[in-house]
Amino acid sequence: MRNRRSADGAMTDACFQARPITPAIGAEITGLDVRRAGAEAQAELNAALARRKVLVLRDQDLSAPDYAAFLRLFGTPVREDLAVDEGHPAEVGAIHIRAGEAQRINFWHMDHSFRELPTRVLSLYAQMLPPAGGDTLFTNLEAAYDGLSEAMKRRIGGLHGHHRMTPTQNTARRYGRDEAAALAKAPPIRHPLVACHAGNARPYLFVNVPIYCRAIAELPTAAGDALLAELYHHVQRPEFGFRLTWRANTLVVWENNRTLHYPVADYFPHERKLWRGVIQATEADRPRAG
Ligand SMILES: [Fe+2]
Repeated sequence: MRNRRSADGAMTDACFQARPITPAIGAEITGLDVRRAGAEAQAELNAALARRKVLVLRDQDLSAPDYAAFLRLFGTPVREDLAVDEGHPAEVGAIHIRAGEAQRINFWHMDHSFRELPTRVLSLYAQMLPPAGGDTLFTNLEAAYDGLSEAMKRRIGGLHGHHRMTPTQNTARRYGRDEAAALAKAPPIRHPLVACHAGNARPYLFVNVPIYCRAIAELPTAAGDALLAELYHHVQRPEFGFRLTWRANTLVVWENNRTLHYPVADYFPHERKLWRGVIQATEADRPRAG
């Protein structure tokens, strides 16, 4: 291996530097223009993503096709189900909160936990930012599991969460009203509460906001709700996460299925627009009992 660690904790890979943002999560990647990333940089970026969960790349000047090419470094981008700007590749979605419109998604959550194969890799790229605010927080569900008491680890081993889609601000834009209603009525998807993935033995605490993670399969409603509330509170401890402040040309890619994120809705009445990319999940991403 050519990578080495400097005194301040930064990993110097062959193609870039990766400096930890907090001990638990995140790396700021410097010394790389992603438009010139070849196979070696691709392998190092994917390794850094698995290690640190969130990669932040500042000052990347990308066209929409450049951004689509960046997404392909991490797998197969899906056609976006959000709005796509005219003339842009179908994989480049836009999360656009217009001036005077309130952002109403302001809670810790994982995208797509109600799917059999929850999305592993998501990305955002800043386009229009408010004068201040609109930060995004991330928390590491592996670190959250490690931070549980041994008694709690024993208590939740072998349990399963029921995950189901609930319509939110973006849902109607993505699916249309009828399809969103059908998804909300679909049977819940059952995932282990303590999960791991093929090729990675590290367990993570697979919880989500209560509108998506509705119940514990093996517990009565009240007991399941109380346990989920306790775990959802636990994952929000600042020791497991970090807060990202966006700047122009900030590019982020993260492991959605082993983290939660929180988009801060503090910038009304200003406008905010991010491009978004979703990488197709594969069988290797299936949550397995940890
Ligand atoms: Fe989200």
